[in-house]
Amino acid sequence: MSLMAADMREVDGVIQRRLASEVALIDQISHYIIGAGGKRIRPLLVLLFSSALGFNGRERFELAATVEFIHTATLLHDDVVDESGMRRGRETANALFGNAASVLVGDFVYSRAFQMMVSLNRMRVLEVLADATNVIAEGEVLQLMNMHDPDLAVEDYLRVIRYKTAKLFEASARLGAVLAESDLAVEEACADYGRSLGTAFQLVDDLLDYEGSSSEMGKNVGDDLREGKPTLPLLLAMERGTAAERDLIRHAIEHGEVARLAEIVEIVRRTGAIGATRDAARLEAAKARASLSLLSASPYRDALLDLCERAVDRSS
Ligand code: IPE
Ligand code: IPE
Ligand code: MG
Ligand code: MG
Repeated sequence: MSLMAADMREVDGVIQRRLASEVALIDQISHYIIGAGGKRIRPLLVLLFSSALGFNGRERFELAATVEFIHTATLLHDDVVDESGMRRGRETANALFGNAASVLVGDFVYSRAFQMMVSLNRMRVLEVLADATNVIAEGEVLQLMNMHDPDLAVEDYLRVIRYKTAKLFEASARLGAVLAESDLAVEEACADYGRSLGTAFQLVDDLLDYEGSSSEMGKNVGDDLREGKPTLPLLLAMERGTAAERDLIRHAIEHGEVARLAEIVEIVRRTGAIGATRDAARLEAAKARASLSLLSASPYRDALLDLCERAVDRSS
């Protein structure tokens, strides 16, 4: 996005400086995952909200880099837990360097993020990010508890994605308002936007696992089913399919089996479960859009509106 290109380059500069470690393996792995890029949506939210609300101090770059570090640390850990082999178009760090190294470097990146927050010397920033990090961990553990459960309620699935993904989007958006010292009503509207956008974003992530292209996503398709992860496309396909189709999906969730993967993907598509998941994402994106009504018109607000469309229509 050209509007934010210069600011995002500043963030990249902070990221590069702050990744430094005297420990060679930390340097190697952290640069490996960060160097692969990523969409950088969470830092973009910090920058767009702080600019939309009139804050132009350099702390915004440090904070934007901080949320990207928290995100990166969760990915390092998540790929170990999910036994994923591909991320950002490359082999995952766990595939290349092993689980132990990925977990430990994830801890390094997390704790570096906390050092960066402290350097900003604002208790409210610390509070928001400490809470977000804690809730993300709860989301990942809740998800672990839900693995292989074909009877998971949609509402419990939604709780997981609100915790593991939407919370950091919420925190990133909120922090723009915190930096700008906006009224609490504005801060809450920013947080609402982030929560809804993040929910839409994860709903689409979950549907792309069934209909996406691995080369566009930079991640393997079908990982969720392989693991027996009950996401909305599967839950809806069970509701909509025949008894035999339901039994097939139940069995796959319970055993995380891949033998009939192609057949299940076909059922998920044919029952309209993918379209229905995208519709759910569209509803969340509409909520996000509505939350922006408190912000005055600006190119930053336009970019935030645009993100709502892109979160739903994306293929990567
Ligand atoms: C991946 O997030 C994890 C989810 C919340 C789905 P992103 O899709 O933002 O990952 P990168 O940073 O662009 O690689
Ligand atoms: C998002 O969930 C993970 C975190 C927010 C930590 P996923 O497990 O669906 O993310 P991907 O698909 O591995 O990127
Ligand atoms: Mg994962
Ligand atoms: Mg996923």
